[in-house]
Amino acid sequence: MKRIGILTSGGDAPGMNAAVRAVARKAMAEGLEAYGINYGFAGLVAGDIHKIESVDLDGVVGEGGTLLYSARYPEFAHVEGQLKGIEQLKKFGIDALVVIGGDGSYHGALRLTEHGYNTIGLPGTIDNDIPFTDFTIGFDTAVNTDVEALDRIHDTAHSHDRTFVVEVMGRGAGDVALWAGVSAGADEIIVPERDWDMESVANKIKHNRANGHRSNIVVLAEGVMGADEFVKKLSQYGDFDARANTIGHMQRGGRPSAKDRVMASKMGAYAVELLLSGKGGLAVGIQNNQLVTHSMLDLFDSKHVTEASLAKLNDEISFS
Ligand code: F6P
Repeated sequence: MKRIGILTSGGDAPGMNAAVRAVARKAMAEGLEAYGINYGFAGLVAGDIHKIESVDLDGVVGEGGTLLYSARYPEFAHVEGQLKGIEQLKKFGIDALVVIGGDGSYHGALRLTEHGYNTIGLPGTIDNDIPFTDFTIGFDTAVNTDVEALDRIHDTAHSHDRTFVVEVMGRGAGDVALWAGVSAGADEIIVPERDWDMESVANKIKHNRANGHRSNIVVLAEGVMGADEFVKKLSQYGDFDARANTIGHMQRGGRPSAKDRVMASKMGAYAVELLLSGKGGLAVGIQNNQLVTHSMLDLFDSKHVTEASLAKLNDEISFS
């Protein structure tokens, strides 16, 4: 093996650059060359590929976004797209790859492995929705961004005796909402993994207000519904002077936290070790603070487990 290709795919996540840097620098330390593939699988098919030099990576460990750009490219599910990608790998002499992205990206990674190009997947998404890893790269930073926003919203909610419904990302998973909600002292956290009903939410807000709590914050996972719709439905149960806020793509940007940088660095270097030992078709994760691998096939058959006990904890410590 002489050349490793690296691509980022799906939604960008803070810490992806730290992962790219770790893969490339570890590859160089092992006497290999690193090639960056721009715009994920779309760039692979188009041949948007370049050699990465060590100096290209100076300072990127602390930068948000992805220096390799990213794209969603469902066309790679078709064999014609895959074969075009393989042609490019041959043209650039790339022997193996590291794909950094969400579990959608792992399907492409597995196809490349099946075509004879060992590929390792690293979990890069703010959603924390990938099986067999306690955390994904970008989740910690996104949660911290949300906590900062929620703390600010709390200030204005408190000044005006208002209820705020704050929608956070996470796609179908409630992890971002749960971690951000507990960290910011939310009154309610509504996630797809847990049953809830609007009347109970309204009753809780009324109860809290009756007990002198002047402001209320509901953290809402986007996988449940949008904040505007939630506020509309909530207002059928009383006048809470409620406001809807959607934090949106701000959650995807910004400088990665130290935790994301360290995790991405560990995972990136480990991916190169795996490729050097001839492995492919594996997804790297971190479980109980240990690096682990699972076959992508097993991963597709599994579901990420959200720490739903955080919702129970929040109920216990937020009720007045
Ligand atoms: O997967 C990351 C994510 O930010 C999700 O939380 C969100 O649902 C989605 O991507 C938004 O996608 P897009 O950037 O394509 O609008």
